[in-house]
Amino acid sequence: MGTAQEEEKFLMFRNRMQKVYRHLGKQARRLGVSCYRVYDHDLPEFPLCIELYGEKLYVAEYKRRHGMTEAEHDAWMARTLDVAAEVLGLDGSNLFLKLRQRKPGRLGQYQKYDTVQHEFVVDENGLKFIVNLSDYLDTGLFLDHRMTRQLVKSLSGGKKVLNLFAYTGSFSVYAAAGGAAEVQTVDLSKTYLNWAERNLALNGFTEKEKYKTIHADVKAYLKTLPPAYFDLVIMDPPTFSNSKRMDDILDIQRDHAELINDCLQALQPGGLLFFSTNYRKFVPDKEKIQSPLIKDITKATTPFDFEGRLYRLCYQVTRP
Ligand SMILES: C[S@@+](CC[C@H](N)C(=O)[O-])C[C@H]1O[C@@H](n2cnc3c(N)ncnc32)[C@H](O)[C@@H]1O
Repeated sequence: MGTAQEEEKFLMFRNRMQKVYRHLGKQARRLGVSCYRVYDHDLPEFPLCIELYGEKLYVAEYKRRHGMTEAEHDAWMARTLDVAAEVLGLDGSNLFLKLRQRKPGRLGQYQKYDTVQHEFVVDENGLKFIVNLSDYLDTGLFLDHRMTRQLVKSLSGGKKVLNLFAYTGSFSVYAAAGGAAEVQTVDLSKTYLNWAERNLALNGFTEKEKYKTIHADVKAYLKTLPPAYFDLVIMDPPTFSNSKRMDDILDIQRDHAELINDCLQALQPGGLLFFSTNYRKFVPDKEKIQSPLIKDITKATTPFDFEGRLYRLCYQVTRP
């Protein structure tokens, strides 16, 4: 038993979890969504991100100076997980815990940090995705882009689609499911490209010529593309990235105009680019971007479970 003050905090956490779960769980059931974010740092004393993946719960703790000893922190975390599991009606074997570093998104953030694989398959809008709640920092499926993926699917029929910084290829799977004529999936990580191939195959998209995966630095790859080839480009880069395979670092505020302009070159007139960034202070450089047709679609692509707690931005840029 902790102090009265601690008890009060756990009670607040339980109440908050109950309230949000009642609200979000109802919406999720109504929309047929099985993977969604339940809690994201709602209370400052509980700096956690909690997501449901079917019957499994992913809990990530944001790194902070908590002032507790290791034993105290372990006890605090155990109690916190108990509360979360109880509210959501899950048992302990279905909980996965992660410590997230609040470092700028270098490629290292996406590298594997364990050798054990705990993969399973989840359903999203009738499509299948491999997720892994324990071996990587992220799960394999970014839930905040659920609606953007549907949008891409709805626009992909007969189209040539390019998915840049593709991670595990979820946008590619949706584009393929929407009937794309061709989908190119580009990422600098072989692990994630392989994951993308497995996600495509899991959904029956196995033709290598039609569904190409390309191991490359996006900045360099864009320079090799034929003009006006694609109809749809998705570009969701990290805020910062560096790697031995790259000549230069990527800094999205500094580099976005060049990246976007290269995408525009690769698009047919009237073709669309969906550009997304997690950089909270991002400002599009409208002077440099070679299209006046820039639409902020952040709101239109915010899923119910991210309302009021979404920090990424999303733009639709049309090739004039
Ligand atoms: C934010 S994630 C993209 C999320 C993805 N669009 C999705 O919705 O699932 C960033 C990805 O960019 C990749 N990456 C980082 N720097 C890169 C670069 N210069 N060229 C290609 N891929 C890069 C990482 O390996 C990682 O998979």
